[in-house]
Amino acid sequence: GSQMKKNIRDHWWRFFVESREDVVGIDAALIMNPKVWEASGHVGNFSDPLVECRKCHSRFRADHLGFTDAAGKPTERKDINCPECGKNDWTETQQFNTMLKTFLGPAEESANVAYLRPETAQAMFVDFVQVQQTSRKKLPFGIAQNGRAFRNEITPGNFIFRTREFDLMEFEYFFDPKKSQWEEIFEFWKKEMEQWMSEVGIDAKKTHAVDIPDGERAHYSKRTIDFEFDFPFGQKELFGLAYRGDFDLEQHEKASGQELRYLDSETNEKVRPHVIEPAFGADRAMLAILASAFEEQKLEGDDIRTVLHLKPVIAPVQVAVFPLMKNKPELVAKAREIFTTLKKDFRCEFDDNGNVGKRYRRQDEIGTPYCVTVDFDTLEDGAVTVRDRDTMQQERVKIEELKNYLQKHFN
Ligand code: GAP
Repeated sequence: GSQMKKNIRDHWWRFFVESREDVVGIDAALIMNPKVWEASGHVGNFSDPLVECRKCHSRFRADHLGFTDAAGKPTERKDINCPECGKNDWTETQQFNTMLKTFLGPAEESANVAYLRPETAQAMFVDFVQVQQTSRKKLPFGIAQNGRAFRNEITPGNFIFRTREFDLMEFEYFFDPKKSQWEEIFEFWKKEMEQWMSEVGIDAKKTHAVDIPDGERAHYSKRTIDFEFDFPFGQKELFGLAYRGDFDLEQHEKASGQELRYLDSETNEKVRPHVIEPAFGADRAMLAILASAFEEQKLEGDDIRTVLHLKPVIAPVQVAVFPLMKNKPELVAKAREIFTTLKKDFRCEFDDNGNVGKRYRRQDEIGTPYCVTVDFDTLEDGAVTVRDRDTMQQERVKIEELKNYLQKHFN
């Protein structure tokens, strides 16, 4: 799982940062000056609506139970029973701040309160001028970051869908609103997000781009699209795309007294850029990929084959190498030799445990695209059996052609 998540993050970085000329990466602190979070509005506004059952004292998101909408606006109150004890006796809805607090230094005084970042975005705003000047980028350009974010969620759950710490992958794309149309940039990144989702294997048929109406968007956003996904527990938010205007840069300018502007060398004017932000949760990406790739295939009789149709770029193991039999040293030695060579170019696993049929099934379950088996013929003809996860077809391939064969099938 950790390898798979790393592959998701690496592919994201490759797609949105390394392969582009107009996006640069940073790696900022998780704990920033608390004044950053006051200026950004998170200390005041980053909250969820909370209700408590008066009988059993369980706490829930009011919007999840249907007392309010996502923005905390009361909906028509229905008879809602507590999912824990079944009673219908609730406190009023209150706003609960989801910032995770900590204390810096030896004394737990309020002067030393700090917050673990709830999003990676703010570092890209406060460091905007420094990054722009050192990277010498011209507008429009983006600053990207990956890393842990923390939220004191009232009701974590649904496996890795909602956790109190998770990995964000996001970037801020800065542009001059006088020179670029925000609608065009917004559309461009929407398409790129869809392209990325397709490359990592998120099922487009289960994905919905939902425009978030006025009043329900985050405090900073002028337009937001939520990509929602049909998870096994319902249609829920996967990723977001937001037009943040110049809200954040303006707030930080006001709070710090420092200009956060771009000097346009053509007009000699200082511009406060506007921002479009694609934001991805790596854990939700992982869950959506798993849900898209999972299949239980009915084979002959009662036989059910569990298979994950993961894309090779995402699969934790790309090639599994087996000797046909464990107790034949000449087969094991040859298989080890092939494994050691392939490992330089692919993520490989060596397995000699149990019969080959069982080994194939184990690899199907973790989504390994190809299995390579060394048998007695290999010692004679220098070829191996390559078995395809999706079709279960087997092919004989010469050992010296194996690398090219796999590379061709992985692209
Ligand atoms: N900078 C914008 C921002 O943080 P967000 O919609 O609050 O926007 C971005 O979060 C993404 O982070 C979400 O679309 C989702 O993929 C992921 N995410 C948010 N809260 C999460 C949680 N508690 N557990 C796992 N992933 C979460």
